[in-house]
Amino acid sequence: MSNPGKREQFGSRIGFILASAGAAVGLGNIWRFPFVAGENGGAAFVFIYLILVFAIGMPLILAEFVIGRRGQGDPVGSVKRVCGKAFAPLGGMGILAALVILSFYAVVGGWTIKYALDAIMGALGTDVASAGGAFEAFIASPFPVIGYQALFMLGTYLIVAKGVGGGIERFCTIFMPLFFILLIVLAIRSMTLPGAAEGLAFYLKPDFSKVNSSTILAALGQTFFSLSLGIGGMLTYGSYLDRKEPLVGPAFQICFLDSLVAFISGLVIFPAVFAFGFEPSAGAGLTFVTLPVVFGKMPGGAIFAILFFVLLLIAALTSSVSLLEVGNAYLVDERKWSRGKASAVLSGATFLAGVPSAISLGGGLNIAGKSFLDTMDFLASKVMMPLGGMGFALVGGFLVYKVAKEELPASVYPVWRFLCCFVAPVAIAWIFFSGLKW
Ligand code: PHE
Repeated sequence: MSNPGKREQFGSRIGFILASAGAAVGLGNIWRFPFVAGENGGAAFVFIYLILVFAIGMPLILAEFVIGRRGQGDPVGSVKRVCGKAFAPLGGMGILAALVILSFYAVVGGWTIKYALDAIMGALGTDVASAGGAFEAFIASPFPVIGYQALFMLGTYLIVAKGVGGGIERFCTIFMPLFFILLIVLAIRSMTLPGAAEGLAFYLKPDFSKVNSSTILAALGQTFFSLSLGIGGMLTYGSYLDRKEPLVGPAFQICFLDSLVAFISGLVIFPAVFAFGFEPSAGAGLTFVTLPVVFGKMPGGAIFAILFFVLLLIAALTSSVSLLEVGNAYLVDERKWSRGKASAVLSGATFLAGVPSAISLGGGLNIAGKSFLDTMDFLASKVMMPLGGMGFALVGGFLVYKVAKEELPASVYPVWRFLCCFVAPVAIAWIFFSGLKW
């Protein structure tokens, strides 16, 4: 840091927007959104999703930005200063949730490194049965999985250790634009395949008859996960933003970019999957089994497979650095550790905490029928994120509204407050209670 004693900051507005959009854009946009949309009414789902992103997601991002920017610190320090000491556990839970997510996110991040390397070597499977078998065998083999997980954590550490401007911002300003270019190239390739129309119809044909409360619930859960809400990540990034910078425009742009990436991912996946007559499956199976086989069948498929896994790796890394930065900021701001020491210790600890997740898919480590990895995912996405989001909405709307009034434009403030006080808490309570199925 060139400015000893002064807190780090993002160097530019665009750097801040790309870093925050990078935090939001992740595996969830690529492997989860398209499938959830396809199954829940296509364009009808996309429409509902967009309403939720802007009516609930954006106000929550703003609540975190306001607290972080005013508090000038990590989630614990900022919440203490802006909301009062009694609320520090809200920040603490965010940090813990971020580390829990990172512990298993790095395992899946490691898989993307392995598949990117396989794509480069031309070693991806050519039929679904053998590719599926190879994937199952790979994720059940502890040593390679832990090795790739360690490599992914090392990458995350190296970026975070270099600082906010020189590490996170620089990485995201180079790689997020590359990410968009790759995504668009892949979407064009996919949509120009013969037979692509059937996939587009599956993905987007509006079917309002499929819209019911469970569709809305699915859209709400996806909004939360996709925008990385409720864990203090946006709070931490907001704390590195200059006082003079506006908050509303960037929050809108982050929501817009995140939704756009999710939407375009569907244009990559479904046309290609249908053009080659495959069944669209969900989650890891789609990403690591079906898609590699689909790429193998396209003209020029080897190149497109490499592009796809590089794309996935970028998405995962720009999210993982935000997860590490939440706890890192705490050690630096509150505990006065050096950034280098904080990021090294925290990456090491998170790596170790992820080892049970890494070895759990071999079938050994189950908790009440779920693998350890799925249990961590459940705990973080279904319990901690909604609780944290509820906390930030309520604290924002009922406690720090005076600060928000100063930070937000007069035209936005009343709408924001209404959404935080009433709409977001009710919606979150609803996801929490109806979504809480083991
Ligand atoms: N938003 C990320 C995704 O869509 C996941 C994530 C959640 C990242 C929480 C950081 C924090 O994949």
